[in-house]
Amino acid sequence: MLAKIIVIGSSNTDMVVKAAHLPGPGETILGGTFLMNPGGKGANQAMAAQRLQSNQGQVAFVAKVGTDIFGQQAIQGFEQAGMDTRFVLKDESSPSGVALIGVDERGENSIMVAPGANANLTAAEVSRALSEIPNAEWVLLQLEIPLDTVENSIAECAKKGMKVVLNPAPAQKLSDDIFKNLYLITPNETEAELLTGVAITDTNTARKAAGILREKGVENIVITLGAKGAFVYNSTTDLLILSPIVEAVDTTAAGDVFSGALVVALSEGKSLADGITFACQAAALSVTRMGAQSSIPSRGEVEALLKG
Ligand code: RIB
Repeated sequence: MLAKIIVIGSSNTDMVVKAAHLPGPGETILGGTFLMNPGGKGANQAMAAQRLQSNQGQVAFVAKVGTDIFGQQAIQGFEQAGMDTRFVLKDESSPSGVALIGVDERGENSIMVAPGANANLTAAEVSRALSEIPNAEWVLLQLEIPLDTVENSIAECAKKGMKVVLNPAPAQKLSDDIFKNLYLITPNETEAELLTGVAITDTNTARKAAGILREKGVENIVITLGAKGAFVYNSTTDLLILSPIVEAVDTTAAGDVFSGALVVALSEGKSLADGITFACQAAALSVTRMGAQSSIPSRGEVEALLKG
């Protein structure tokens, strides 16, 4: 089976504690039960794409984990889901990535990542993987692997004619060269502000920030607005798409589920607006459950919510 979608990015093991509030500096608090589950922005997006596609296609994941038990468990999870794991590389020199996550009673989180092997994924390794996954049309990246790997991979994929989607998380400044190679960017409010200098408070400011990203060369801009939905902007569309109202238990990975779902929808030929509606439903379902990959809904669940 040829992969139509490639995800290049991080894989972590998430250590999660839910508590009434997130601890401040110097504060120790007693939380609830501990949850360990697979995470990492790259892996979450790859898993969301794999789980949400309608056909039996394979998503190819390009990443690096350690040779420890966390890395082994992560690969096992990818294989069970049916992903192409040939390019989930094993690093002898560093442990697998780990994320420490606190979740408060409103479902908001704070995350601290020890990147481990994620920090050693090189552009040459990605390039080798790309040459062995021919005919993929879509590639999805984030910013939890080295920036020069991201920059070089984006340039190479764009040169091959692939549609490049960047979820610019965690937030960091990017060189202007990246933007012209992007078919689509999916920042949240914080990331959009860092990339454009515009604080996103409403549709007007989202439009202003999106306009700046378009001037920099991005074809399609989707700014995610949490529970409020997503703002989409390109040469023909200027639209706020609402999210269904749900009770949030844990918002971790909602942005990852959104990006993975959106790429699936677009790869299946849906319009950008329909793709965002699909992605908003998938992300809304994910926030009603604890964890990152453990919270990704199935295609059937999203379609049922869409019909409802
Ligand atoms: O976006 C959520 C993810 O961020 C978590 O799964 C954690 O691993 C960090 O990468």
